Amino acid sequence: MSSVPVSRSAPLPAPLVPDAPLTALAPMQDVTDLAFMGVIAHYGAPDYFFTEFFRVHAQSRPEKHILRSIDENRTGRPVFAQLIGEDIPHLVRTARELLCHPVAGIDLNMGCPAPKVYKKNVGGGLLRDPEKVDEILGALRDASPGLFTVKMRIGFDTTVHFERILDLLNKHSVDLLSLHGRTVKEGYRSDVHYDFIARAVERVKCPVLANGNLTSAATAVRVQGETKAAGVMIGRHAIRNPWIFRQCRERFSGQPVSAVTLSDVREYVERLYRATQQPGLAEVYHVNKMKKYLNFVGQGVDATGAFLHEMRRTETERQLFEICDRHLLAEPGRIFADEPYPGVIARPNCETPSADADGCSLESITA
Ligand SMILES: Cc1cc2nc3c(=O)[nH]c(=O)nc-3n(C[C@H](O)[C@H](O)[C@H](O)COP(=O)(O)O)c2cc1C
Repeated sequence: MSSVPVSRSAPLPAPLVPDAPLTALAPMQDVTDLAFMGVIAHYGAPDYFFTEFFRVHAQSRPEKHILRSIDENRTGRPVFAQLIGEDIPHLVRTARELLCHPVAGIDLNMGCPAPKVYKKNVGGGLLRDPEKVDEILGALRDASPGLFTVKMRIGFDTTVHFERILDLLNKHSVDLLSLHGRTVKEGYRSDVHYDFIARAVERVKCPVLANGNLTSAATAVRVQGETKAAGVMIGRHAIRNPWIFRQCRERFSGQPVSAVTLSDVREYVERLYRATQQPGLAEVYHVNKMKKYLNFVGQGVDATGAFLHEMRRTETERQLFEICDRHLLAEPGRIFADEPYPGVIARPNCETPSADADGCSLESITA
Protein backbone atom coordinates (compact mmCIF):
# COMPACT_ATOMS: atom_id res chain seq x y z
CA MET A 1 0.00 0.00 0.00
CA SER A 2 1.37 3.48 -0.78
CA SER A 3 1.16 6.06 1.99
CA VAL A 4 0.45 9.66 2.94
CA PRO A 5 3.65 11.35 4.18
CA VAL A 6 3.49 13.03 7.63
CA SER A 7 5.98 14.94 9.72
CA ARG A 8 7.45 11.84 11.42
CA SER A 9 8.95 8.82 9.79
CA ALA A 10 5.80 6.71 10.21
CA PRO A 11 3.37 7.36 7.36
CA LEU A 12 -0.41 7.17 7.70
CA PRO A 13 -2.06 4.32 5.80
CA ALA A 14 -3.01 5.42 2.28
CA PRO A 15 -6.61 6.52 1.77
CA LEU A 16 -8.85 4.59 -0.60
CA VAL A 17 -8.62 7.44 -3.10
CA PRO A 18 -5.11 8.88 -3.46
CA ASP A 19 -4.88 12.57 -2.46
CA ALA A 20 -8.56 12.72 -1.42
CA PRO A 21 -9.43 13.98 2.07
CA LEU A 22 -9.48 11.19 4.65
CA THR A 23 -12.61 9.64 6.11
CA ALA A 24 -12.89 7.76 9.41
CA LEU A 25 -15.63 6.07 11.37
CA ALA A 26 -15.63 7.61 14.86
CA PRO A 27 -15.02 5.18 17.72
CA MET A 28 -18.30 4.43 19.50
CA GLN A 29 -18.62 2.25 22.55
CA ASP A 30 -21.03 -0.68 21.99
CA VAL A 31 -21.34 0.29 18.32
CA THR A 32 -18.09 0.10 16.38
CA ASP A 33 -17.53 -3.60 16.95
CA LEU A 34 -16.59 -6.23 14.40
CA ALA A 35 -20.18 -6.70 13.22
CA PHE A 36 -20.88 -2.98 12.72
CA MET A 37 -17.56 -2.38 11.00
CA GLY A 38 -18.42 -5.17 8.55
CA VAL A 39 -21.82 -3.64 7.84
CA ILE A 40 -20.31 -0.20 7.27
CA ALA A 41 -17.68 -1.65 4.96
CA HIS A 42 -20.45 -3.31 2.93
CA TYR A 43 -21.97 0.09 2.12
CA GLY A 44 -18.66 1.90 1.62
CA ALA A 45 -15.80 1.69 4.07
CA PRO A 46 -14.12 4.76 5.51
CA ASP A 47 -10.36 5.08 5.12
CA TYR A 48 -9.83 4.33 8.82
CA PHE A 49 -11.60 2.57 11.64
CA PHE A 50 -11.01 3.13 15.36
CA THR A 51 -11.98 0.60 18.02
CA GLU A 52 -14.22 1.57 20.89
CA PHE A 53 -11.98 2.30 23.86
CA PHE A 54 -9.98 -0.33 25.72
CA ARG A 55 -10.30 0.59 29.39
CA VAL A 56 -6.91 0.71 31.10
CA HIS A 57 -6.26 0.31 34.83
CA ALA A 58 -4.16 -1.89 37.09
CA GLN A 59 -6.34 -4.99 36.64
CA SER A 60 -7.35 -4.43 33.02
CA ARG A 61 -6.65 -6.77 30.14
CA PRO A 62 -7.62 -5.80 26.58
CA GLU A 63 -11.31 -6.68 26.27
CA LYS A 64 -11.74 -9.78 24.12
CA HIS A 65 -14.75 -8.51 22.20
CA ILE A 66 -12.87 -5.35 21.21
CA LEU A 67 -9.82 -7.37 20.20
CA ARG A 68 -12.04 -9.22 17.74
CA SER A 69 -12.59 -5.98 15.83
CA ILE A 70 -8.84 -5.94 15.24
CA ASP A 71 -7.96 -9.62 14.84
CA GLU A 72 -10.95 -10.54 12.68
CA ASN A 73 -11.18 -7.27 10.76
CA ARG A 74 -12.11 -8.22 7.18
CA THR A 75 -13.01 -4.73 6.01
CA GLY A 76 -9.74 -4.29 4.16
CA ARG A 77 -9.24 -0.99 6.00
CA PRO A 78 -6.86 -0.29 8.90
CA VAL A 79 -8.09 -0.13 12.46
CA PHE A 80 -6.52 1.99 15.22
CA ALA A 81 -6.80 0.70 18.79
CA GLN A 82 -8.11 3.29 21.24
CA LEU A 83 -7.11 3.41 24.91
CA ILE A 84 -8.69 5.28 27.79
CA GLY A 85 -6.90 5.62 31.11
CA GLU A 86 -4.47 7.67 33.14
CA ASP A 87 -2.15 5.13 34.75
CA ILE A 88 1.02 5.48 32.71
CA PRO A 89 2.67 2.07 33.32
CA HIS A 90 -0.61 0.33 32.54
CA LEU A 91 -1.25 2.47 29.45
CA VAL A 92 2.21 1.52 28.21
CA ARG A 93 1.67 -2.14 29.06
CA THR A 94 -1.66 -2.15 27.20
CA ALA A 95 -0.25 -0.32 24.18
CA ARG A 96 2.51 -2.95 23.96
CA GLU A 97 -0.02 -5.77 24.22
CA LEU A 98 -2.16 -4.21 21.49
CA LEU A 99 0.85 -3.76 19.25
CA CYS A 100 1.05 -7.58 19.09
CA HIS A 101 -2.22 -7.42 17.14
CA PRO A 102 -2.67 -6.06 13.60
CA VAL A 103 -3.40 -2.45 14.60
CA ALA A 104 -2.73 0.59 12.43
CA GLY A 105 -1.63 2.47 15.54
CA ILE A 106 -2.43 3.38 19.12
CA ASP A 107 -5.03 6.09 19.77
CA LEU A 108 -5.51 7.91 23.08
CA ASN A 109 -9.02 8.98 24.15
CA MET A 110 -9.06 12.50 25.63
CA GLY A 111 -12.72 13.24 24.99
CA CYS A 112 -15.13 10.89 26.73
CA PRO A 113 -17.63 13.10 28.60
CA ALA A 114 -19.20 10.50 30.92
CA PRO A 115 -19.00 11.91 34.48
CA LYS A 116 -17.84 8.57 35.90
CA VAL A 117 -14.97 8.66 33.42
CA TYR A 118 -13.86 12.27 33.74
CA LYS A 119 -14.13 12.26 37.53
CA LYS A 120 -11.31 9.71 37.43
CA ASN A 121 -9.28 12.13 35.27
CA VAL A 122 -9.38 9.94 32.22
CA GLY A 123 -10.96 10.55 28.81
CA GLY A 124 -12.14 14.15 28.59
CA GLY A 125 -11.09 14.73 32.20
CA LEU A 126 -7.45 14.80 31.10
CA LEU A 127 -8.02 18.08 29.26
CA ARG A 128 -7.99 19.86 32.65
CA ASP A 129 -4.45 18.75 33.35
CA PRO A 130 -1.86 19.60 30.66
CA GLU A 131 1.02 18.32 32.83
CA LYS A 132 -0.55 14.89 32.98
CA VAL A 133 -1.27 15.04 29.24
CA ASP A 134 2.40 15.80 28.65
CA GLU A 135 3.48 12.75 30.65
CA ILE A 136 0.97 10.39 29.06
CA LEU A 137 1.72 11.54 25.51
CA GLY A 138 5.46 11.15 26.14
CA ALA A 139 5.07 7.64 27.52
CA LEU A 140 2.72 6.42 24.79
CA ARG A 141 4.86 8.03 22.10
CA ASP A 142 7.89 6.11 23.38
CA ALA A 143 5.86 2.90 23.54
CA SER A 144 4.53 3.24 19.98
CA PRO A 145 7.19 2.73 17.33
CA GLY A 146 4.50 3.08 14.66
CA LEU A 147 1.59 5.49 14.60
CA PHE A 148 0.41 7.22 17.75
CA THR A 149 -2.79 9.25 17.42
CA VAL A 150 -5.06 11.27 19.70
CA LYS A 151 -8.79 11.85 19.75
CA MET A 152 -9.91 14.78 21.86
CA ARG A 153 -12.34 17.61 22.43
CA ILE A 154 -11.44 21.31 22.48
CA GLY A 155 -11.40 21.56 26.27
CA PHE A 156 -13.08 20.43 29.46
CA ASP A 157 -15.40 23.26 30.49
CA THR A 158 -13.39 26.04 28.85
CA THR A 159 -10.84 26.11 26.05
CA VAL A 160 -8.17 27.66 28.24
CA HIS A 161 -5.67 24.83 27.66
CA PHE A 162 -6.47 24.32 23.98
CA GLU A 163 -3.32 25.81 22.44
CA ARG A 164 -1.11 24.34 25.13
CA ILE A 165 -2.42 20.84 24.47
CA LEU A 166 -2.03 21.28 20.73
CA ASP A 167 1.60 22.25 21.35
CA LEU A 168 2.02 19.06 23.40
CA LEU A 169 0.77 17.05 20.43
CA ASN A 170 3.56 18.66 18.40
CA LYS A 171 6.12 18.11 21.16
CA HIS A 172 5.34 14.38 21.18
CA SER A 173 5.05 14.03 17.41
CA VAL A 174 1.50 12.76 17.47
CA ASP A 175 0.71 11.38 14.01
CA LEU A 176 -2.99 12.21 13.66
CA LEU A 177 -5.49 14.27 15.66
CA SER A 178 -9.22 13.56 15.57
CA LEU A 179 -10.85 16.67 17.01
CA HIS A 180 -14.45 16.80 18.22
CA GLY A 181 -15.22 20.53 18.18
CA ARG A 182 -16.98 20.74 21.54
CA THR A 183 -15.85 20.90 25.13
CA VAL A 184 -16.52 17.92 27.38
CA LYS A 185 -19.19 19.90 29.18
CA GLU A 186 -20.94 20.64 25.90
CA GLY A 187 -21.74 16.95 25.51
CA TYR A 188 -23.24 15.91 22.18
CA ARG A 189 -25.91 18.43 21.23
CA SER A 190 -24.49 21.96 21.34
CA ASP A 191 -23.25 23.74 18.24
CA VAL A 192 -19.86 22.49 17.13
CA HIS A 193 -16.98 25.00 17.18
CA TYR A 194 -15.52 24.29 13.76
CA ASP A 195 -13.42 27.45 14.10
CA PHE A 196 -11.42 25.62 16.79
CA ILE A 197 -10.85 22.76 14.38
CA ALA A 198 -9.50 25.29 11.86
CA ARG A 199 -7.21 26.70 14.58
CA ALA A 200 -5.91 23.22 15.36
CA VAL A 201 -5.24 22.59 11.67
CA GLU A 202 -3.07 25.72 11.63
CA ARG A 203 -1.20 24.88 14.80
CA VAL A 204 -0.46 21.15 14.77
CA LYS A 205 2.03 19.49 12.49
CA CYS A 206 -0.01 16.32 12.01
CA PRO A 207 -3.16 15.81 9.89
CA VAL A 208 -6.44 16.64 11.66
CA LEU A 209 -9.77 14.87 11.25
CA ALA A 210 -12.73 17.20 11.82
CA ASN A 211 -15.42 15.62 14.00
CA GLY A 212 -18.79 16.61 15.41
CA ASN A 213 -22.26 16.71 13.82
CA LEU A 214 -21.14 15.95 10.29
CA THR A 215 -24.70 15.01 9.47
CA SER A 216 -24.32 14.31 5.74
CA ALA A 217 -21.70 14.08 3.03
CA ALA A 218 -22.56 17.66 2.02
CA THR A 219 -21.93 18.91 5.56
CA ALA A 220 -18.76 16.86 5.91
CA VAL A 221 -17.32 18.20 2.66
CA ARG A 222 -18.26 21.78 3.59
CA VAL A 223 -16.66 21.53 7.04
CA GLN A 224 -13.53 19.89 5.64
CA GLY A 225 -13.23 22.77 3.19
CA GLU A 226 -13.84 25.45 5.80
CA THR A 227 -11.47 24.02 8.37
CA LYS A 228 -8.86 22.76 5.88
CA ALA A 229 -8.75 19.57 7.91
CA ALA A 230 -7.05 16.56 6.33
CA GLY A 231 -10.33 14.70 6.55
CA VAL A 232 -13.51 13.97 8.43
CA MET A 233 -14.50 11.59 11.20
CA ILE A 234 -18.18 10.63 11.41
CA GLY A 235 -19.97 8.77 14.20
CA ARG A 236 -23.72 8.89 14.83
CA HIS A 237 -24.61 9.90 11.31
CA ALA A 238 -22.89 6.81 9.97
CA ILE A 239 -25.24 4.75 12.13
CA ARG A 240 -28.13 6.58 10.50
CA ASN A 241 -26.59 6.51 7.03
CA PRO A 242 -23.91 3.84 6.47
CA TRP A 243 -23.54 5.04 2.85
CA ILE A 244 -22.08 8.32 4.12
CA PHE A 245 -18.40 7.47 3.52
CA ARG A 246 -19.06 6.47 -0.08
CA GLN A 247 -21.10 9.65 -0.50
CA CYS A 248 -18.25 11.73 0.96
CA ARG A 249 -15.84 10.24 -1.56
CA GLU A 250 -18.29 10.98 -4.37
CA ARG A 251 -18.61 14.60 -3.25
CA PHE A 252 -14.88 15.04 -2.69
CA SER A 253 -14.29 13.96 -6.28
CA GLY A 254 -17.09 16.12 -7.69
CA GLN A 255 -19.24 13.15 -8.77
CA PRO A 256 -23.01 12.95 -8.26
CA VAL A 257 -23.89 11.56 -4.85
CA SER A 258 -25.68 8.23 -4.95
CA ALA A 259 -29.20 8.45 -3.55
CA VAL A 260 -30.43 6.05 -0.88
CA THR A 261 -34.05 4.86 -0.92
CA LEU A 262 -36.19 3.64 1.93
CA SER A 263 -35.96 0.11 0.55
CA ASP A 264 -32.14 0.38 0.78
CA VAL A 265 -32.65 1.33 4.43
CA ARG A 266 -34.89 -1.71 4.95
CA GLU A 267 -32.09 -3.88 3.57
CA TYR A 268 -29.60 -2.16 5.91
CA VAL A 269 -31.79 -2.90 8.93
CA GLU A 270 -31.99 -6.56 7.94
CA ARG A 271 -28.23 -6.77 7.40
CA LEU A 272 -27.51 -5.08 10.71
CA TYR A 273 -29.95 -7.38 12.51
CA ARG A 274 -28.31 -10.51 11.09
CA ALA A 275 -24.78 -9.23 11.64
CA THR A 276 -25.38 -8.38 15.29
CA GLN A 277 -27.18 -11.63 16.17
CA GLN A 278 -25.21 -13.65 18.68
CA PRO A 279 -25.71 -17.24 19.74
CA GLY A 280 -27.43 -17.31 23.12
CA LEU A 281 -28.60 -13.66 22.99
CA ALA A 282 -32.32 -13.70 23.76
CA GLU A 283 -34.55 -12.14 21.13
CA VAL A 284 -35.76 -9.36 23.39
CA TYR A 285 -32.19 -8.24 24.15
CA HIS A 286 -31.26 -8.33 20.51
CA VAL A 287 -34.34 -6.31 19.60
CA ASN A 288 -33.41 -3.81 22.31
CA LYS A 289 -29.90 -3.50 20.91
CA MET A 290 -31.33 -2.95 17.42
CA LYS A 291 -33.60 -0.23 18.75
CA LYS A 292 -30.52 1.70 19.85
CA TYR A 293 -29.21 1.78 16.29
CA LEU A 294 -32.68 2.45 14.89
CA ASN A 295 -32.98 5.52 17.10
CA PHE A 296 -30.47 7.11 14.75
CA VAL A 297 -31.84 5.55 11.55
CA GLY A 298 -35.31 6.87 12.40
CA GLN A 299 -34.09 10.45 12.17
CA GLY A 300 -34.06 10.07 8.40
CA VAL A 301 -37.27 8.07 7.90
CA ASP A 302 -40.09 10.57 8.50
CA ALA A 303 -40.40 14.13 9.69
CA THR A 304 -42.97 13.35 12.39
CA GLY A 305 -40.93 10.73 14.23
CA ALA A 306 -43.74 8.15 13.76
CA PHE A 307 -41.29 5.38 12.85
CA LEU A 308 -39.26 6.06 16.00
CA HIS A 309 -42.36 6.17 18.16
CA GLU A 310 -43.63 2.78 16.95
CA MET A 311 -40.22 1.14 16.70
CA ARG A 312 -39.48 1.91 20.37
CA ARG A 313 -42.51 -0.12 21.44
CA THR A 314 -41.51 -3.37 19.76
CA GLU A 315 -40.36 -6.40 21.70
CA THR A 316 -39.93 -9.13 19.10
CA GLU A 317 -38.14 -9.51 15.81
CA ARG A 318 -41.48 -9.98 14.04
CA GLN A 319 -42.92 -6.74 15.46
CA LEU A 320 -39.73 -4.85 14.65
CA PHE A 321 -39.69 -5.91 11.01
CA GLU A 322 -43.43 -5.32 10.65
CA ILE A 323 -42.87 -1.69 11.65
CA CYS A 324 -39.87 -1.48 9.33
CA ASP A 325 -41.90 -2.88 6.43
CA ARG A 326 -44.77 -0.50 7.07
CA HIS A 327 -42.54 2.58 7.18
CA LEU A 328 -39.83 1.61 4.74
CA LEU A 329 -41.59 -0.47 2.10
CA ALA A 330 -44.86 1.46 1.66
CA GLU A 331 -43.00 3.79 -0.69
CA PRO A 332 -39.81 1.82 -1.26
CA GLY A 333 -38.43 4.20 -3.88
CA ARG A 334 -38.79 7.29 -1.68
CA ILE A 335 -35.44 8.96 -0.96
CA PHE A 336 -34.04 8.53 2.54
CA ALA A 337 -33.42 12.04 3.86
CA ASP A 338 -29.77 13.16 3.55
CA GLU A 339 -29.99 15.19 6.74
CA PRO A 340 -31.82 14.18 9.93
CA TYR A 341 -35.30 15.66 10.13
CA PRO A 342 -35.21 18.70 12.42
CA GLY A 343 -36.65 17.98 15.85
CA VAL A 344 -36.56 14.19 15.46
CA ILE A 345 -34.31 13.34 18.40
CA ALA A 346 -32.61 10.00 18.75
CA ARG A 347 -33.45 9.61 22.47
CA PRO A 348 -35.97 12.17 23.60
CA ASN A 349 -36.17 10.83 27.13
CA CYS A 350 -32.48 10.97 27.77
CA GLU A 351 -31.14 14.36 26.80
CA THR A 352 -27.90 14.28 28.74
CA PRO A 353 -25.47 11.53 29.71
CA SER A 354 -26.56 10.08 33.04
CA ALA A 355 -24.26 10.59 36.01
CA ASP A 356 -24.14 6.81 36.38
CA ALA A 357 -22.98 6.10 32.87
CA ASP A 358 -19.39 4.93 32.98
CA GLY A 359 -18.70 5.33 29.30
CA CYS A 360 -20.14 6.66 26.07
CA SER A 361 -22.68 3.93 25.55
CA LEU A 362 -25.78 4.21 23.40
CA GLU A 363 -27.79 4.29 26.61
CA SER A 364 -26.60 7.77 27.38
CA ILE A 365 -26.14 9.56 24.09
CA THR A 366 -28.56 11.51 21.96
CA ALA A 367 -28.32 13.15 18.62
C1 LIG B 1 -22.68 5.78 21.32
C2 LIG B 1 -21.40 6.54 21.29
C3 LIG B 1 -20.25 5.98 21.82
C4 LIG B 1 -19.03 6.68 21.79
N1 LIG B 1 -17.89 6.06 22.22
C5 LIG B 1 -16.69 6.67 22.04
C6 LIG B 1 -15.46 5.98 22.30
O1 LIG B 1 -15.43 4.80 22.68
N2 LIG B 1 -14.30 6.68 22.10
C7 LIG B 1 -14.29 7.98 21.65
O2 LIG B 1 -13.22 8.56 21.47
N3 LIG B 1 -15.44 8.64 21.39
C8 LIG B 1 -16.61 8.00 21.54
N4 LIG B 1 -17.77 8.65 21.18
C9 LIG B 1 -17.70 9.99 20.56
C10 LIG B 1 -17.64 9.86 19.02
O3 LIG B 1 -16.46 9.22 18.61
C11 LIG B 1 -17.71 11.25 18.36
O4 LIG B 1 -16.61 12.02 18.77
C12 LIG B 1 -18.99 12.02 18.70
O5 LIG B 1 -20.12 11.17 18.61
C13 LIG B 1 -19.20 13.22 17.77
O6 LIG B 1 -19.25 12.80 16.44
P1 LIG B 1 -20.65 12.60 15.64
O7 LIG B 1 -21.41 13.88 15.77
O8 LIG B 1 -20.20 12.29 14.24
O9 LIG B 1 -21.35 11.45 16.30
C14 LIG B 1 -18.98 7.99 21.25
C15 LIG B 1 -20.16 8.56 20.75
C16 LIG B 1 -21.34 7.85 20.74
C17 LIG B 1 -22.56 8.48 20.13
